[in-house]
Amino acid sequence: MKRIWMCALLVSVVFCFTIACKHEPFQAVPTVNTNDTTTNQPVDTSICFERDILPIFLSNCAMGGCHNAASHQEGYILDGYNNIMNTGDNDGIKPFDANGSDIYESLVEDDIDKRMPQGMPPLPQAQIALIKRWINEGAQNGTNCVVLCDTNNITYNTGIKPILQQNCVGCHNSTLANDGVNLTTFTGVTSVVQDGRLLGSIKHQSGFSFMPQGASKLSDCKIRQVEKWIAAGALEN
Ligand code: HEC
Repeated sequence: MKRIWMCALLVSVVFCFTIACKHEPFQAVPTVNTNDTTTNQPVDTSICFERDILPIFLSNCAMGGCHNAASHQEGYILDGYNNIMNTGDNDGIKPFDANGSDIYESLVEDDIDKRMPQGMPPLPQAQIALIKRWINEGAQNGTNCVVLCDTNNITYNTGIKPILQQNCVGCHNSTLANDGVNLTTFTGVTSVVQDGRLLGSIKHQSGFSFMPQGASKLSDCKIRQVEKWIAAGALEN
């Protein structure tokens, strides 16, 4: 009798194991996980280096006299993934540890003389938070990022301002207005809309300086968004 029970136990244990070990297909952490309520398209909420992080460095740090290859202040060259990861004393970016990363620290530094970008207002909170999240998620090098594109209903505040904020204002603000172009105010933006220099420069048309300087051309989608917003009257909407 005892043997029968042992046997039954063994059978059920083996049975349970077989069930438990029936492998679920490995599920990567979903990166596309919400739906855009307006278009019903999936929205990519993951961070992708080339799309979300690199433009911040290129437009706020990797300028001549600051942290491009030629100037490399304090040894920091911030013009691409490899340089950003292996720059300065190598504590610039410590994957998974934003607070231990000197580059992140410099953005949130209390001492205004040490805070980066030097002599400028701090980066917008949203950009600082993005850099923090990118580091804490492992500071991966994302390339060939999905580019989400909605060229309908582009407004200044939700469409155009973020593009300028991410790609341009580091070199075009009230302190540093290259070519007299200040893209932090609506008036400043309007003046380059009206003289055609905004579109000419981002579309890389001949006769204009190609913008954003030192970085790749904006995506076709972003250029189209700017174009459509201008065609609709370039309103401060
Ligand atoms: C790394 C610095 C930097 C970034 C980033 C940058 N610019 Fe510029 N921009 C300059 C400099 C420097 C000039 C002066 C002209 C030159 O040296 O080519 C300039 C000139 C311009 C001009 C005048 C062009 C002309 O032909 O008269 C416009 C318009 C302009 N930028 C718009 C933008 C826009 C829009 C962006 C973002 C998409 C941007 N810039 C990003 C540095 C930058």
